[in-house]
Amino acid sequence: MKAEPKYIPQSILSHIDKDTRITALTGAGISAESGIPTFRGKDGLWKKFRAEELATPEAFRKDHRTVWEWYRFRQDIIGKASPNPAHHALAEMEKLFCNFHIITQNVDGLHRRAGSSRLCCLHGDIWEARCIREGTVTACLPGKDGDPVPLCPSCGALMRPNIVWFGEALPADELEKSYRLARGSDIFLVIGTSSLVYPAAALPMIAYQAGAALIEVNPDESPLSEIAVHIKEKAGTAVPGILEEFRSALG
Ligand code: OAD
Repeated sequence: MKAEPKYIPQSILSHIDKDTRITALTGAGISAESGIPTFRGKDGLWKKFRAEELATPEAFRKDHRTVWEWYRFRQDIIGKASPNPAHHALAEMEKLFCNFHIITQNVDGLHRRAGSSRLCCLHGDIWEARCIREGTVTACLPGKDGDPVPLCPSCGALMRPNIVWFGEALPADELEKSYRLARGSDIFLVIGTSSLVYPAAALPMIAYQAGAALIEVNPDESPLSEIAVHIKEKAGTAVPGILEEFRSALG
């Protein structure tokens, strides 16, 4: 008798072919092994910093210099980080499956750096700034503490980080595409997210209710763990393991 695969149940693997529709929703946990702190949990950023003073439109109106300092601080950490085996494994999955997509809540750009291109970025991009008057988006190169805040190259107005803050709407086109992907997935992977921040947190349930197999990679429990196949491991080990099982299943 053949042993059950370690990560993905055989009942799912035996239905896989290159047209299988697979979507991966990722969160801060996938970048943890690249050295980028997550938001929640014991060492999470929101344990040390107050989100309402740094990641809201009100905070930016009140003190844009402090908000820019916070993003410069995070750019500094992210700029030194590299994609880890989990990012690379997802980039490989895109090559194996015609209908493979990533929906990410991360703003660190590591999926793109690993080579993924079918990407929905729900929460923005830390390497972009946006004019608060005209909405012009420009590249936001790493800065350092004390640098002047960026001004719009076309109109001179203040620029803000091109990040979705608490209380703001997500980019409508990316969100619509994410809902479509969730409704149309055969397999929905949820990797390194606490599944607490909406609307991203609704996507796994949408996929599940539409009939997708739900697979969660997270060393800890989340609200999804009860209904998903829960792989209680770090992404850097589990996601390459899943890739290998997909490869073998494709033959
Ligand atoms: P969280 O910090 O809320 O959750 C990270 C999750 O990753 C936790 O459930 C951890 O258990 C898990 N985790 C930690 N290390 C891991 C590893 N090596 N492998 C796999 N999982 C691991 O981050 P998000 O769910 O992404 O919003 O947070 C959602 C949003 O809240 C973020 O996008 C951010 C934040 O405020 C914005 O910046 C707009």
